[in-house]
Amino acid sequence: MTYVTSPGESLAFPPSFTWGAATAAYQIEGATGADGRGPSVWDTFARTPGKVRGGDTGDIACDSYHRYAEDADLLRSLGLRAYRFSVSWPRVFPAGGGQLNQAGLDYYKRLLDALNERGITPAATLFHWDLPQALQDRGGWAARDTAFRFADYAAAVAGALGDRVPRWITLNEPLVVAHNGHRIGVHAPGLADNAVAASVTHHLLLGHGLGSAAVRAAASGADVGITLNLTPVRVTAADGTRLHGMGEVLERARRVADAVCNGIFLEPLLSGRYPEHAPPVILPPAGLVRDGDMTTIAAPLDFLGVNYYQPEHLRAGDPDNLRRGEDRPMPGIEGGVVRYRPDGMEQTPMGWLIDPDGLYELLLRLSADAPGLPLYITENGCAAEDYVNPDGQVNDLERIKFLHLHLAAAARAARDGASLAGYYVWSLLDNFEWAYGYQKRFGIVYVDFATQQRIPKASASFFARVARDNRVPALPAAWPV
Ligand code: FCB
Repeated sequence: MTYVTSPGESLAFPPSFTWGAATAAYQIEGATGADGRGPSVWDTFARTPGKVRGGDTGDIACDSYHRYAEDADLLRSLGLRAYRFSVSWPRVFPAGGGQLNQAGLDYYKRLLDALNERGITPAATLFHWDLPQALQDRGGWAARDTAFRFADYAAAVAGALGDRVPRWITLNEPLVVAHNGHRIGVHAPGLADNAVAASVTHHLLLGHGLGSAAVRAAASGADVGITLNLTPVRVTAADGTRLHGMGEVLERARRVADAVCNGIFLEPLLSGRYPEHAPPVILPPAGLVRDGDMTTIAAPLDFLGVNYYQPEHLRAGDPDNLRRGEDRPMPGIEGGVVRYRPDGMEQTPMGWLIDPDGLYELLLRLSADAPGLPLYITENGCAAEDYVNPDGQVNDLERIKFLHLHLAAAARAARDGASLAGYYVWSLLDNFEWAYGYQKRFGIVYVDFATQQRIPKASASFFARVARDNRVPALPAAWPV
């Protein structure tokens, strides 16, 4: 594998580049019973036996609900001037709508004041997966009404906090909500139903459209966007070189996979239509899409948030006779094509491929698809098997390498024309990693969950240096092992 940046090159980022760290409410706040917060689907899911590793829940998490000032201090001590956090809908509307819970909203005022006092610019995500359980009980995102309840919630939050938040993200990774939460059931609310997942897809998009209009009306001058997890799709032949007469089949498969992984959310947002190559099983039934919906969804974005973790690979193969590293393809892909994980590519402890070239390609592709639209990497990072060594330090060399490679790819993409405006590392803190519980650590700051002690890892110093210099240092010719 060749990386897009060669050793020896130190690359600068554009002037006024945003450097920050990201978190999400359910993953860090804890205090799930405090000050009138209502239950979310993740409280319910985490309590369902067998759904989250080790029976972990977000009840305490990083206790950031009480330790937000310390966490803001951490950001400041690292010289990071931006923070992406999410607002917990069930703190603000414990029953999803109706009576607003002022005490819940006040927490975010305290947090925003703490950030402001330290010169840190917030970006607020309105929905990072913690739907009020009361709304799930009325159908959740499968019900059209939830999109309107989301807009009410967005209006209330933007009305109260709009003077302190210049950048709003409506939804985080709606594809993961639809797919993991409703198609395969490994995330809350744990449903596994294609038809439900297809309805959820449309209502999330509609919620985004209605929610953005609500934020714009309540907080004039604010930038409003959405965060998508996006995935470059790569196609190669079985032996990595020749296509064995499969060129056309593979190209068709690539388009379908791109529609499934990216286009299903990207195209409605950018062009007001569902992708031509999307397989029918993922498309919302026509009856669900009402007049005006697609116009609401495609209202111009002020920016696009991009979460990048790994690419998708396809090659010729037999889905009924899978070889090592292969998997059955997504629905709609036909004619002897399989998903696969290339031999010899490094992986993180999540089993995710380490492929910084994918980030480079993605940023350039998005800049071609949506010329001039500012792109923020709103998440990028990796899990590592971190531990505190006898000197009390966390030497996460794997994460430094991961970040170094991806930052170099991002800098190169910006240099080659991508309209990249910022980078938020995932994550500030080790936290509740959804179905993996606390076992997977993504932070640049280590959290001892027994004591809540925070220990900045070696990667925090590395990242702070890149942010301070607005420049990624030259990649080493060889990595320390
Ligand atoms: C993303 C989520 C984020 C975090 C990372 C590892 O899909 O948005 O909350 O869990 O993955």
